[in-house]
Order: sequence, then C-alpha cells, then structure tokens
Amino acid sequence: MSSKLIAPSVLAADFANLQRDIEMINQSEADWFHIDIMDGVFVPNISFGMPVLDAISKHAKKTVDVHLMIVDPDRYISTFAKLGSDILTVHYEACTHLHRTLQAIKAEGMKAGVALNPHTNINVLEDTIQDIDMVCLMSVNPGFGGQSFIENTYNKVKQLKALIERKGASTLIEIDGGVTDKNATQLTEAGADVLVAGSYVFKSEDPILTVKNLKAQVNP
Ligand code: DX5
Ligand code: ZN
Repeated sequence: MSSKLIAPSVLAADFANLQRDIEMINQSEADWFHIDIMDGVFVPNISFGMPVLDAISKHAKKTVDVHLMIVDPDRYISTFAKLGSDILTVHYEACTHLHRTLQAIKAEGMKAGVALNPHTNINVLEDTIQDIDMVCLMSVNPGFGGQSFIENTYNKVKQLKALIERKGASTLIEIDGGVTDKNATQLTEAGADVLVAGSYVFKSEDPILTVKNLKAQVNP
C-alpha cells in the first residue's frame, strides 16, 4: 500500500515569519505544502495572492499543492503554473466547464485537482473522475482555518473510493479541514491518501513532532 501523505496548510503559518515556517516544513516529514488562495467572493475570506505564493515557492522544497477558492479559476491557470504550483485544485462549484478546466491545468504541466464543498455529492464526478488526479473533499465549509471537522466526510471518502475503483481511476483523495489525530486514522482507513492539516500542525507546540506523529499514525 502506498504511503499516506501529510500536507500542512500554510494558511495557519505565522505570516510575519513565513520563511521560518516554510523551512520548518522543509525539515519535517511533511510531504506537501498546501496553499489556500481565497478571493473573498467564492468564500467569505481573502487569504493571500500571487506575490506571497511566489515567495513561498522560492523556499518550498516539497510539492506545492495549491487550492483555489476563487470564482472563474480558468483566468489564472497559467499564472499559477508560473508561480510554481505542482498541483492545482479548483472547486467543482466554481467551474461551469470543469472538463475544459481540467485539460487546461494539465496542459500547463500541473496535476489537476477538484475540490468538493461539504454539500456537494460525490456523484457529480461520475463523468470526470478519470480525468482528475486528485479530489479534495472539504471537511469544513471553505474559507477559514481552525473549524471543526464535519463527520459526514467519512461516508464521502468511502463513496469516492468506491467510484474511483469502479471507474479504474488512479485519483488521490485529499481531506481538507479540521484534520487532527482524532480523525486521521478513520480517514485513511476509509481511503484518504492525503491529509491537509493547518491549525493542528502550526498551532501545536512542536510542529515538526506533530507532523512526525501524524505521519506515523496513518502509516503504521
Ligand atoms: C479552508 C482551507 C483549509 C484550511 C485548513 O478553507 O481550505 O486548507 O487551511 O485548516 P485547518 O486544518 O485549521 O482546518
Ligand atoms: Zn485548503
């Protein structure tokens, strides 16, 4: 079985000490950097934009996983490629022509991800799952870090895993929002491949140790 990945969410980092926090993740056993881009329209919050991602990419030595919570993401696909994104995830709810968007992301040399809000059923991906490198299941309503985990996510992971297997796809399942040591094992056992963790990692006393323990917990 392939190993389960940990992706700390930089949204929970100390922005006044961003380089320090990026280096900390570089040194940890984390697998990816998860980067949340919010536009204040698709979600009720604005995080940070291109200049900050540019600065992060210059220091990040691991896969850069960019989660776009913006309307009409097609406008910025090539920009995010140039800024060093390895995986670009768009929201199903923000794309009128999802199939076209996925092809455009791949044409820029990135892996293509699709995020689903907590209210969005898995079955909307029935006809695109084979074109999707990763599905990001939102386990909170997107917009803010530090929210509590929505328990229905376990059912969605199982449904999504079944869809992926039924279609013979190789899509990864990422979980985003409220991930801690309390839900991590149940999520990976249900089929999750990548766990995003923001506050749980960055607000802990020793983030390097927290990542190490979380990674060991889900890779017994
Ligand atoms: C929420 C973001 C998440 C967030 C997770 O809209 O997409 O990536 O940073 O933060 P925690 O782990 O604190 O819920
Ligand atoms: Zn995210």
